[in-house]
Amino acid sequence: MAMQNEDQSEILLESQTHIWNHIYTFIKSMSLKCAIQLQIPDIIDHHGSPMLLSELVEALPINQERAQSVYRLMRILVHCGFFVKQSVSTTGGNVKEEEGYMLAPASRLLLKENPLSLRPYLLCMFNPIMMDPWQDLSKWFQNDDVTPFHMTHGRSLYDLADQELNLNQFFNEAMACDAKLCMGVVLEKRTDIFQGLDSVVDVGGGTGEVAKVIAKAFPNTKCICFDLPHVVNGLVESNNLTYVGGDMFEAIPKAHTILLKWILHNWNDEECKKILTNCKEAIPSKEHGGKLVIIDIVLKVDQDDNKIFETQLFFDMVMMIYLTGRQRTEKDWAKLFFDSGFSDYKVTPILGLRSLIEVYP
Ligand SMILES: C[S@@+](CC[C@H](N)C(=O)[O-])C[C@H]1O[C@@H](n2cnc3c(N)ncnc32)[C@H](O)[C@@H]1O
Repeated sequence: MAMQNEDQSEILLESQTHIWNHIYTFIKSMSLKCAIQLQIPDIIDHHGSPMLLSELVEALPINQERAQSVYRLMRILVHCGFFVKQSVSTTGGNVKEEEGYMLAPASRLLLKENPLSLRPYLLCMFNPIMMDPWQDLSKWFQNDDVTPFHMTHGRSLYDLADQELNLNQFFNEAMACDAKLCMGVVLEKRTDIFQGLDSVVDVGGGTGEVAKVIAKAFPNTKCICFDLPHVVNGLVESNNLTYVGGDMFEAIPKAHTILLKWILHNWNDEECKKILTNCKEAIPSKEHGGKLVIIDIVLKVDQDDNKIFETQLFFDMVMMIYLTGRQRTEKDWAKLFFDSGFSDYKVTPILGLRSLIEVYP
């Protein structure tokens, strides 16, 4: 009997911890946001060697009385894997061993000057325009608004970006910051994919960072970045890179290959079928080598990597909040392709939590 009570207490205490942990999971992201706003990774990086707490506090543009709070902020960020601690010998009378902060690999990807930095993505997602819709999620389940974003702001994400310069800018910057890392991997692991093509259209290509990478790697390929007019108007073109403003639900510029990176997960099945049908009209037949290249998540429910799966589920919720889309399993993708008149596809999982999908007419 005593044993049973002990088990019960264990379960209750574990459950309590589990709930508290989830209540406070936001502290991880808010602490990270704070560190980025204070530029802590950049300051530690510029320091060039393990940075003592006292040195960090002195370098930060903060109230110098807050040293103990900086220590506590750093402690949770060390715990979350953004910084590591390393021993340093300090001299000041006698030699002492102290601990200094260094960047962990994930923080390198948050440095302001790193061309692969995810900093703009982080700042976008924590902007109140993007955060506010999360507050009223339960209300959205009870009404018939298209998305929580629409419920909060009265229009869709892309319509609001057309009206609000600030949102247009920080959203485009957030999307663009993934281009170099993602395309670097694609070109390294699948050099063949854009090789020898006469033309590529990047549909929903934002401000053209992806198209720029392709245009640079393949100077003989004509690259078109196609996006909504408010996104591409006035952008500077180069020899083999042009911008076209338009609506992919109406028509898509013709090309040999069409790239859809992070596009279809924004939209529901009916909307995707419309986009895919327009893509099919814009490319040559299978015999003439026409192809779509899709970069998106292929949700694998039974995968071993829990972190990848959890992050994919986060992205699925992100789509639910901001747009009408969702993350899809391979079966969902296959149905979409076949329903849109495509004959075959191939998934290559070379992009961490995303995959490269080639689709043939
Ligand atoms: C999630 S972002 C992806 C941007 C880019 N492909 C990338 O991976 O970084 C989706 C893009 O689709 C564009 N978009 C939305 N509606 C569109 C439409 N009707 N026609 C063309 N582009 C559209 C948005 O402006 C945005 O740049």
